[in-house]
Formats: sequence, structure tokens, C-alpha cells
Amino acid sequence: MASAILASLLHPSEVLALVQYKLAPKTKYDYSNNKTRERLYHHLNMTSRSFAAVIQDLDDELKDAICLFYLVLRGLDTIEDDMTIDLEIKLPYLKTFHEIIYQKGWNFTENGPNEKDRQLLVEFDTVIEGFLELKPAYQTIIADITKRMGNGMAHYATAGINVVTNADYDEYCHYVAGLVGLGLSEMFTASGFESPMVAERKDLSNSMGLFLQKTNITRDFLEDLRDNRRFWPEEIWGKYVDEIKDLTEPENKEKALQCLSHMVVNAMAHIRDVLEYLSMIKNKSCFKFCAIPQVMAIATLNLLHTNYMIYTHENVKIRKGETVWLMKESSNVDSVAAIFRLYARQINNKSNPLDPHFVDIGVICGEIEQICVSKYPGSTAELHRLQAGVMAGTSGNVLTAAAVVAGAIALKNVIA
Ligand SMILES: *[C@@H]1O[C@H](CO)[C@@H](O)[C@H](O)[C@H]1NC(C)=O
Ligand SMILES: *[C@@H]1O[C@H](CO)[C@@H](O)[C@H](O)[C@H]1NC(C)=O
Ligand SMILES: *[C@@H]1O[C@H](CO)[C@@H](O)[C@H](O)[C@H]1NC(C)=O
Ligand SMILES: *[C@@H]1O[C@H](CO)[C@@H](O)[C@H](O)[C@H]1NC(C)=O
Ligand SMILES: *[C@@H]1O[C@H](CO)[C@@H](O)[C@H](O)[C@H]1NC(C)=O
Ligand SMILES: *[C@@H]1O[C@H](CO)[C@@H](O)[C@H](O)[C@H]1NC(C)=O
Repeated sequence: MASAILASLLHPSEVLALVQYKLAPKTKYDYSNNKTRERLYHHLNMTSRSFAAVIQDLDDELKDAICLFYLVLRGLDTIEDDMTIDLEIKLPYLKTFHEIIYQKGWNFTENGPNEKDRQLLVEFDTVIEGFLELKPAYQTIIADITKRMGNGMAHYATAGINVVTNADYDEYCHYVAGLVGLGLSEMFTASGFESPMVAERKDLSNSMGLFLQKTNITRDFLEDLRDNRRFWPEEIWGKYVDEIKDLTEPENKEKALQCLSHMVVNAMAHIRDVLEYLSMIKNKSCFKFCAIPQVMAIATLNLLHTNYMIYTHENVKIRKGETVWLMKESSNVDSVAAIFRLYARQINNKSNPLDPHFVDIGVICGEIEQICVSKYPGSTAELHRLQAGVMAGTSGNVLTAAAVVAGAIALKNVIA
């Protein structure tokens, strides 16, 4: 907490958000009256803190279904990911996982001892128990997506992940993330909280996943290169270097930055779909659930854009304070649109006029601005409010930040 506050000191609105976050109760919900549910949310919390936080405000029925969707896919992923399991043993599990989730009492203990989420599979009988208690409509959606993803994983495990064209890139991201978007949309519609249109627009649901996945793939370049995984399409990097690893050579710095902005444009191309998808989501808690990961992604893209650090440092990520601030501000459509405008402006402002993608980025940023203004006119007032908070920091108003910290410490002492 102390180091997070220090990092956010020049951003008073973040310090405030951090303090409020720290003082807020850890979990809003108590699951102790239901043993199955308690175990499930324990697993969710162990496998993904961030997802466990985002899911909070959904109502119980939808929350359980989405929690189980997540845990089932995480189980599948934990088998796929484990390189200590031989391929011929692994493949049948990947291809039949959608049937395994109907087998009461099934556990899996063959993961290597270092596999992070090993325990989830050792106690997978709990997940199956929860799954079998869901309404059949949710079970069918989860099983269908699991089947498609498991087969996709089996394909990539056999043939290798060889991302040559931009279409290959989209296809890979569809299997690992787009399918999740499709499944969530079907669940929103099945719950009756959203219209049938949400499930019908599969193109938009797919883009929701692709935008997140492509942002991560762009951010994680160095880490993936080290682990011998290559997700950047050759159709892109091949324009700048002969071999993908050459992007990290200091003498290729200029080319590497051009390649990076090419990857950024490729990811940003999904934003118009993201905004269109979000405009279909009418329910407040579903909206927040969908919007938070997307605003994190555009904030991350803003951090990555023109940032050579991605080639020299692993773990380039937005400040904790910024994350908490984004979650706090994503509660309504107008502020989410304002956040998109805010980051689009920063991205555009950072672009290098000599970069070959300068114009493309400018066009997309302009389009974001225009879509938000026409669909969410209230976002202009929100933008001014957010900018006032952000600007107080960037103009070097350390005093404000210091006052907030002092206030927080005083408040903490009062509470303690
Ligand atoms: C307990 O939780 C499970 C899974 O979340 C749910 O399906 C079940 O209906 C709950 N049982 C009771 C008695 O509320
Ligand atoms: C979630 O996990 C964290 C540690 O990872 C732990 O401190 C917290 O108590 C857990 N919360 C629940 C509800 O299990
Ligand atoms: C929004 O959806 C949640 C379920 O996540 C539900 O509890 C709530 O009643 C819905 N609100 C409206 C206004 O439809
Ligand atoms: C799965 O594990 C649970 C405890 O983690 C145990 O109670 C159950 O019997 C196991 N099921 C099988 C089929 O081994
Ligand atoms: C992207 O990265 C974030 C942060 O590491 C993670 O929480 C999220 O699940 C990832 N999303 C996708 C779609 O890979
Ligand atoms: C735009 O960039 C310049 C420096 O390149 C910076 O001083 C200015 O604050 C930026 N404006 C916005 C709105 O981000």
C-alpha cells in the first residue's frame, strides 16, 4: 500500500481511490451459509483475484454461472498449460473436457507440482458439483464453449502455435479469448437481464475478447519471447525485422517502435466493436462487469504506445492506483465513455508524426471520440470531471496528494 501510494503521489485522484479501496470491506458477500458456494468462491479467489473482484456486483444466479464458467475454463487451461504432461495423455482430456464436467466426483492429480492452479484440479469435484447445480441453460452454454475451446487447444497443442497472417492472429485470439466473450453474452441473454441481441451479435462479443487478448499479447512480448512463445503475427513484425527476436536489438529500436505501433493499431481496431457492444448492455451490474476489463485494456494500451520499455522490461503494467481508480470510475456508461476518450486523447497525443501509423491511430482516436459523443453525450461532462482530477496531479500539485495521504493516515488511525 505504501509503495502504491508513493507511485501514485503525482495522481491525487488515484491516491484517493487507493485509500477508499483499502478502507472498503474486503468482500461484500458472505458465502459461509453454503458450503459449495464457499469452496467455489475460494477457488475463484485463489485463481484470479482480479476476476473475483469484478464479479462481485452481479446477482447470485448469474454470478455462480460466470464463476463456474471461469473455473471450468481455468481447469482446462491448467491441463493445457502443463508441459510435464505428455501430449498423448493431454489430448484426450482437452477434447473431452466438456463431458468430464458432467462426471460427479472427478478429480485430476496429474499436474506437475509447480503448476500454479494444481489444487483446483485436485478438488475439481467441487467445481463439477457446482456446475451440475446450475440451470441447464447455463450448463449447455459452458459445455459448448468448453468443447470448442478444448478442441482449439488440442489443435494448437498438436500443430504448434504458428501465427503467420493477421487472420491466424485473430483465429488464435478467438479460441483463447473471443470464445469467452461469446459464452458470457449467451449467459447474459439466458439470464434475461439482457436482450437476445447481445447473444446474437457474436462478432461484437468476439471483439470484446480480442481487444483484451491482443493488448496482453502486445504487453507480454518479452516474457513470451523468453518462454519461446510467439504470438505477434509475422505479417506484422516481418515488415520491420527478419527475425522476431531482432526486435529487441538496440540497433533496431526505430523499427521496433514502428512495429509496436502497428500492433497497437491492430488492437485498437476492435474498439469500435467494444463501444457498440457496451451500448447494447442495459443492466448496470452487467455493464460494469463488461466495462472494467475493457477500460483496463485501453489504459494499458496507452501505457504501451510508443513505450520502448516493452522490449527491455517484463511486467510493464499500469499502476495499482490507476487500476483502482478505473474500477471506481467505471460504474456508469458516461464515465466509461469518458475514460475511453481520455485515453484515446493521450494515445493520439503521444503518437510520433514520423511513425508510419500516425494517421491510422489518429483516425481511430477520432472515431472513438465521435462514437462516444454521439452515443453518450453525458460523457463530455464526465470527461471534464475526470480531467480535473488527473490534471491536478500532472501539473505537479504534490501538495494535494500529500494532503490526501495525511488525511488517509489520520483516518486510518481513527479507525484502528
Ligand atoms: C449453494 O450454492 C450452489 C452453487 O453456487 C447453488 O447452486 C445452490 O443452489 C446453493 N444452495 C442453497 C441451499 O442455497
Ligand atoms: C482471497 O485470497 C486472499 C489471498 O490470495 C486472501 O487474503 C483472502 O482472504 C481471500 N478471500 C476469500 C473470500 O477467500
Ligand atoms: C441487473 O442484473 C442483475 C444481475 O446481475 C440483477 O440482479 C438486477 O436486478 C438487474 N437490474 C436491472 C435494473 O435489470
Ligand atoms: C476428489 O477429491 C475429494 C477431496 O479433495 C475427495 O473427497 C473425493 O473422493 C475425490 N474423488 C475421487 C473420485 O477421487
Ligand atoms: C490480460 O492480462 C490481465 C492482467 O495480467 C489478466 O488479468 C487478464 O485475464 C488477461 N486477459 C486476457 C483476455 O488474456
Ligand atoms: C500531450 O503531450 C505533451 C508532451 O508531448 C504533454 O506535455 C501534454 O501534457 C500532453 N497532453 C495531454 C492532454 O495528454
